[in-house]
Amino acid sequence: MNVVVGVGGGIAAYKAAELARALGERGCAVNTVMTRSAQEFVRPLTFAALTGRKVITDLFADRSADEVLASSVEHIRVARENQLLIVAPATADLLARFANGLADDFLTTLYLAFSGPVLIAPAMNAQMWNHPATQANLALLKARGVEVVEPGSGPLACGEVGAGRLAEPGLIAERALALLAPARRDFEGETVLITAGPTQEALDPVRFISNRSSGKMGYALAEDAARRGARVVLVSGPVNLAAPAGVEIVHVRSAADMRNAVLEQLTAATMVIKSAAVADYYLENAPPQKMKKAAMRMSIELSPTPDILAEVGRIKGDRLLIGFAAETQNLAAEARRKLETKNADMIVGNLVSQEGVGLESDMNEVILVRRGADPLALPKATKRQIATQILDEALRLRLALHAVTRS
Ligand code: PMT
Repeated sequence: MNVVVGVGGGIAAYKAAELARALGERGCAVNTVMTRSAQEFVRPLTFAALTGRKVITDLFADRSADEVLASSVEHIRVARENQLLIVAPATADLLARFANGLADDFLTTLYLAFSGPVLIAPAMNAQMWNHPATQANLALLKARGVEVVEPGSGPLACGEVGAGRLAEPGLIAERALALLAPARRDFEGETVLITAGPTQEALDPVRFISNRSSGKMGYALAEDAARRGARVVLVSGPVNLAAPAGVEIVHVRSAADMRNAVLEQLTAATMVIKSAAVADYYLENAPPQKMKKAAMRMSIELSPTPDILAEVGRIKGDRLLIGFAAETQNLAAEARRKLETKNADMIVGNLVSQEGVGLESDMNEVILVRRGADPLALPKATKRQIATQILDEALRLRLALHAVTRS
């Protein structure tokens, strides 16, 4: 499998070397294209040594007239000979140039000439990432079918803390391989309704109760189901993620909003997956003005939010209903209890007290609890891989349930 890694000029360029190595280890022949500014951060020799191939650094650099003539179509040759173009790190400048069709160096020219899948992994300062211009360029590229590995949050090279860190090279390599694998279209004909992220329950106009859900698990499910041919409606609480390509998104804030959106979308759904971390309590009659600080202790009385999963369970008809259970103890027993009480077909049990998996992480480790079967443990893997396995099991359940209905 031939892939091109386009390296943009950012401090994360050194991580592109790890990416090149990770792709090589997974059996890819890696061709590297570096922008002029990328070469200020890492030398081409690093990539040449790691990939065993010549690194392309410019359209016309230091060449004779004949070489310039030959190289004038080199981007077309590279575009034809490679199955995937990965851009990592993709800087704000590269996103803008791709979005606007500029083609004044090898990488931007290659991008325009490339007809295969394109995977970009942005990395930049958090302000630059959140700037409306960057987000608009990203949305445009996604709408044109470009796949994006979202940057992570944390301390950045500029000293700030926020979103903008290049995703881990192993994660980018895995997404690349998933794109290269022939897409199964086994979800064609399904309409999958997925909830993701946290809800926010207002205490007053500026404060709320919420939780640490990032939405990554639900977004991974939405992305995989869409790739496999489903119509996907994603009802999302407030998260810092862009909508996956080809997914219809409904943004909500509170549990009540989420319930309304789910019930509105339910008629068309053939499968419902409730991965959202819905707040269990809310403040009825939240004051319209900001609560004032007082010297004494205060207490607030909270009411339970609507249990959306249980409500869908009561009216689901022959839809397949998959819930989640986020627990810190007794995972299997709690997941089974939720399976029964909420009339779900499967519960994905998620131990959320474990470091490095579950809430906020790119990784997860879950058990699948189904009726009449032992729990199926899915070992630690990326949320993308876990999503694929959950959807595989959902299809198996759908077939088994159909077989029971027919007999
Ligand atoms: O978002 P990430 O950072 O990627 O993290 C993923 C996750 C840990 C949030 C996810 O994998 C997960 O476990 N989601 C379920 C979280 C949760 O709210 O669990 P619960 O055990 O409290 O709820 C059980 C089920 O009932 C869930 O399907 C939930 O969506 C649903 N529920 C809960 C309360 C409520 N009022 N209405 C509901 O529908």
